[in-house]
Amino acid sequence: MYLTNEEERILKGDRGEEKRIAMEILVALGKIYGASRLIPVKSAQISGISYKSIGEAGIRWLRSLSKARVVVPTTLNPAGMDLERWRFMGIHEDFARKQLEIIGILRGIGAEITCTCTPYLAGNRPSFGDHLAWAESSAVCYANSVIGARTNREGGPSALAAAIIGKTPLYGYHLDENRRATFKVRVLADLKDMSDFGALGYWTGALIKSGLPYFSGIREPDDESLKALGAALAASSNASMYHVEGMTPEFRMAIKDEVEKVEFTNKDLAWVYDELTTFRGKKVDLVAIGCPHASLKEMEKIANMLAGKRIANGIKLWIFTSRAVRRTAERIGYIRAIQSAGGEVYADCCMVVSPIEKLGFESIAVNSAKAAFYLRAMSGIDVVFGSLKRCIDIALRGRL
Ligand code: F3S
Repeated sequence: MYLTNEEERILKGDRGEEKRIAMEILVALGKIYGASRLIPVKSAQISGISYKSIGEAGIRWLRSLSKARVVVPTTLNPAGMDLERWRFMGIHEDFARKQLEIIGILRGIGAEITCTCTPYLAGNRPSFGDHLAWAESSAVCYANSVIGARTNREGGPSALAAAIIGKTPLYGYHLDENRRATFKVRVLADLKDMSDFGALGYWTGALIKSGLPYFSGIREPDDESLKALGAALAASSNASMYHVEGMTPEFRMAIKDEVEKVEFTNKDLAWVYDELTTFRGKKVDLVAIGCPHASLKEMEKIANMLAGKRIANGIKLWIFTSRAVRRTAERIGYIRAIQSAGGEVYADCCMVVSPIEKLGFESIAVNSAKAAFYLRAMSGIDVVFGSLKRCIDIALRGRL
């Protein structure tokens, strides 16, 4: 891999130990994937910042880089708790202390404490063609597919290394040839709710495992549906990009050669809801919305659905979003509407990367295929996967 003189000096340690470590990571990655050189990135997004995910080993590694400084705008993925309202969530002091240390280190190296998987809704929206080093899989999928920016699915360490150096190896989704479709999915099912798009993403990912799908037959999906589609696709596969005919910015260049084709029918749609629903009882403990983090439009919808109503006793409704969206929702009055009905809105964290299994919840209803998949896999929690309306109905009625 070609390195400039300055990059060689960094690698030798002439610019300090932290930069050397960061450069070593990027060069190792570049060699593994056959990158020809490093390219500058416009921003970085670091994942794996929840104490639940990285534990003691992760904190030790972060401490070793605490003297570094990021050189490009850098945001963070959700942490394990609302950084301001963690006591209210029921987070244990020991967990909070560790989590706050992680955040303190990252703040110290210059990262913005924007802990969200939707940085593009919280002031870090790239432009078409921008090269990025983002780590969270749903954000990566959205940036590549919906915006037309270019990022690989970085790991936490490689995103941090890219933030410190301001560059990333040129391979994978940064190159035109890897942004072409390898698979066509003709959508025959009636997709009505954003959870249906999540179901489509989950089904496709489970089928292809890796590659790049091209969807046709989808009529005017909104932004929320596209975010749900990519999140679930990236959860059930290695895919970090998709095209939607007539919709996403690179769909015209997507098909070069003949590719395999499948159809997604109403029967497949129903199969996903059944497959991801593992809870067979009558009453869940928690209804959790906001995977990926809820947009302002979702907050508005939820506030309207709850207007003048009350969450049933014995069940909780938690909405997860970014600080930026929560601030705006607060000004408009959505937060008040949700709280008046008995719901709560948390920022900086989510149902998957927070220690939800330690908060006394055993069953959760979600409208996200990604959350349904990971809650079961990572936290061993039983799940009901349904539309937003169904989830809010469960919260209001107190039962399925
Ligand atoms: Fe975001 Fe957490 Fe879902 S990081 S995409 S809300 S699992």
